[in-house]
Amino acid sequence: MPAPPPTILPALPLSRRVEAAALVWSAFGTAVAPGAPPRAGVALLRRCLARDRVLAAVGPDRQLLGVVALRVAAGGLIDARPAARGAILGPAARWRDRAAALAPSPPATCDAVLDGLVVMPAARRQGVAAALVGAAATSARRQGYPGLRAEVAPRNVQALRLYRRLGFQPAGRVRTGWLRRALVLRLPL
Ligand SMILES: CC(C)(COP(=O)(O)OP(=O)(O)OC[C@H]1O[C@@H](n2cnc3c(N)ncnc32)[C@H](O)[C@@H]1OP(=O)(O)O)[C@@H](O)C(=O)NCCC(=O)NCCS
Repeated sequence: MPAPPPTILPALPLSRRVEAAALVWSAFGTAVAPGAPPRAGVALLRRCLARDRVLAAVGPDRQLLGVVALRVAAGGLIDARPAARGAILGPAARWRDRAAALAPSPPATCDAVLDGLVVMPAARRQGVAAALVGAAATSARRQGYPGLRAEVAPRNVQALRLYRRLGFQPAGRVRTGWLRRALVLRLPL
């Protein structure tokens, strides 16, 4: 039997913060805190996830199925909290952060940008990501953004298929770090 469609919550409930931190770490840990031990990385995310900017997909028992955030001028999935990073990750993180701050970052855009889309492995291929991206597009449209962007690693075939299927069109490439480039896909709103 197909899974029932997820419910999309407009903010991450406090009660789901621990699962969300572990899920985000599993997919994006190397970008969030390169070289950090998983326990410290998850602890950092628990503290720094911007719950108000996170859309959360939950199942019938309110179990967390997936998350995504909108990156806008005010910030994205993770609130930068240098003091928390230093306290949890230790002094080496400060130097890594300083180096990271010098790395090329994506250029500013008038669009909202999807940040940190990830679905629990057991809930994949059931339309959860499509529902999250749909809700993110509705939210971005209501806030007046002209488009919604996704920045995708060129090898992430699943994500590229997802965005093409949802009507996103190629819109160039961006540098997201010294060695990292991403493909940009855009959905006009
Ligand atoms: C990419 C990801 C978010 C997709 O989540 P999902 O809930 O499984 O996606 P959906 O079920 O909504 O899929 C919608 C469509 O996307 C495409 N798609 C999704 N996963 C796919 C896969 N593994 N292989 C091929 N196509 C895939 C398909 O077209 C799919 O439609 P279909 O199932 O009817 O064929 C999920 O695999 C994930 O969390 N990956 C790790 C984190 C990540 O890569 N995030 C994206 C960063 S840009």
